[in-house]
Amino acid sequence: MPSLPLSDNAGQTPVSEVPRLPPADKARYVNRLFSAVAPTYDLLNTVMSFGLHKGWRRAATDLCRLKPGGRALDVATGTGDFALEQRRRVGPSGWVVGVDFCEPMLRIGVRKVGGRAAMLQGDALALPFPDDFFDAATMGFALRNVADIQKTLDEMARCVRPGGRVVQLELAKPRGLLFRSVYYLYFQRVLPWIGKVIHGRRESYAYLPASLKEFASREEIVERMRRAGLEEVETRDLTLGIVAVYSGTKRRAGSAAVEPGAGTVAGTVAGTAQGGKRATGAAAAGPPSDGEPG
Ligand SMILES: C[S@@+](CC[C@H](N)C(=O)[O-])C[C@H]1O[C@@H](n2cnc3c(N)ncnc32)[C@H](O)[C@@H]1O
Repeated sequence: MPSLPLSDNAGQTPVSEVPRLPPADKARYVNRLFSAVAPTYDLLNTVMSFGLHKGWRRAATDLCRLKPGGRALDVATGTGDFALEQRRRVGPSGWVVGVDFCEPMLRIGVRKVGGRAAMLQGDALALPFPDDFFDAATMGFALRNVADIQKTLDEMARCVRPGGRVVQLELAKPRGLLFRSVYYLYFQRVLPWIGKVIHGRRESYAYLPASLKEFASREEIVERMRRAGLEEVETRDLTLGIVAVYSGTKRRAGSAAVEPGAGTVAGTVAGTAQGGKRATGAAAAGPPSDGEPG
C-alpha cells in the first residue's frame, strides 16, 4: 500500500495528539486515516473484535425499533455494515441511507451493500437531509472521530422524526479495574501490531487507543444526547463494557424538556439538501422502492 501522509504535518503530530487537534485538522486527519485503512478495514474489524462487532451491531440496531417499510439513516457508515443491518429490519419496502465523508470507505461500502442502501458522501456535522425525515439514525464507532460531538448528535436528532430513535455504538472504557488493565494491554500494545501485520502500518491503529483515551465519558455522551433534544436516553454496556450503546428518542412536540436548555434541535436547520455528494457508483437516493432487494 502506498504511504499516505495522515496529517498535513505528518511525522510532527504524534498520534496521541490527534484527538486534540483543531476541528478542521482532525477532520482532515480522520478522512486520510480511513482512506488509508479502507482496503483492510473490514478484515481488521473482524480480527480485532474477534468477530464480536456483528453481534454488537445487531444489539444496537434492535434499539432503533425499526419496522418494515421504515426509513433508516447510518451516519459515518464507512463500509456499510450498519446500513445492511438496518435493511434487514426495514425490508424491501423500507429506505436505508448511509453517509460518510471518506470516499475510499464508501467505495467499498457501495460494492458491499450492492443497492440495498443508498450510499452518500457527506459530513456528519452537516447532514444533507431535511428535518424529521428518518425513523432512526445510527452511528457506529465514529463518535470518537468527529470533530464536534454535540453538533453530530444535534444533526442526527434533527434528521429523525419526533418519536424516532438515535443510536450510538462506540468503544468504551471497561469499568472493572482488573479487566480494564488486561484490555488496555491488548488495546495499546497488541492491537497496533495486528494492524501492522494486516494493514502494513502501525500508526493507523495506534490512533485507536489514543482516540479512546481522550474520548468523552458515558455520562457526558448521555448529557449531550439530552441536549440534542433526545429523551429516554439510556446507555448499555456490551462485552464487559469494552463497547457501549447509547440510545434516545427524539422529543415529541409538547413533551417536557428533560434538561434545562435542551430541545434546540428540531427546526433550527432547514433545507439542508445541499452539501451531500453522491458517492461514485452509489445507489439512487430516491424514495422507497418496492423492488429494492432486502
Ligand atoms: C471506525 S469507522 C466506522 C465505520 C462504520 N460506522 C462501522 O461501524 O464500521 C469511522 C468512520 O467515520 C467516518 N467519519 C468520521 N468523521 C466523519 C464525519 N465528520 N462525517 C462523515 N463521516 C465521518 C470515517 O470516514 C469512517 O468511515
